[in-house]
Amino acid sequence: KDSPINNPSLEGFDIIDNAKTRLEAACKGVVSCADIIAFAARDSVQMSQGFRYEVPAGRRDGRVSLSSETLTNLPPPTFNLGQLTQNFARKGLTQEDMVTLSGAHTIGQAHCTSFSSRLYSFNTTMSTDPSLDATYAAQLKQKCPQGSTDTSLVVDMDPPSPTTVDSSYYKNLVANRGLFESDQALMSSPVTAAQVRIFSANDANFKLKFAAAMVKMGKINVLTGTSGEIRSNCRVIN
Ligand code: HEM
Repeated sequence: KDSPINNPSLEGFDIIDNAKTRLEAACKGVVSCADIIAFAARDSVQMSQGFRYEVPAGRRDGRVSLSSETLTNLPPPTFNLGQLTQNFARKGLTQEDMVTLSGAHTIGQAHCTSFSSRLYSFNTTMSTDPSLDATYAAQLKQKCPQGSTDTSLVVDMDPPSPTTVDSSYYKNLVANRGLFESDQALMSSPVTAAQVRIFSANDANFKLKFAAAMVKMGKINVLTGTSGEIRSNCRVIN
């Protein structure tokens, strides 16, 4: 949470703390913070008029937490398709998983600073990214004025349905209305674009695949057995 890639984006630590306090009171030292976060993601999807999926439990918490690791592990919004694919592959996730998980951008908000380079300083010949729908670009420019120093300015990532988990994100991509370069990049190869089009037209198919991909992502580098620990306070190691 201290890394510039997550701060000030990542929020809701108090929700995790509250869940932890109640779990510790009921059953001390059993449910890890890693499990609580996976359950919170599941519940967020359900509460956003999405759907319910089962999440396996049993993760243990790490004893090392380095903010520098976010910079080498999390992809920036400026990544192109090749870079994104490589980044996900390093975690054992396929390109199909990547297209599916990117659908999480069907909810939430982004800070103007995360994408303003697409609007005002794209490259040496074009200030605005030409792959961005012109009307959408104009709307974004209105919400994120050039040179603004207000770091709290945010926009909805899926304007048509910002708080609903649905396939609207993919409809945006088909209409060149992906917010980040990394979103629109999913339309830059025939294979990924075909998957985007299928999800854009088939909400149920997206939801089924999304649930499976979330469970798969939740199994990456999991600590079990005697590795790690069950933290009693999610903010610090025991
Ligand atoms: C494909 C690579 C990805 C990139 C480059 C990326 C990048 C970003 C960025 C830059 C933001 C906005 C941060 C801000 O300005 O505050 C964001 C928000 C968000 N991302 Fe991603 N993301 C990716 C994949 C994912 C995945 C796999 C998930 C979950 C399955 C996800 C879920 C979210 C959510 C829910 C938000 C909204 C947070 C909020 O409302 O505060 N993203 N992402």
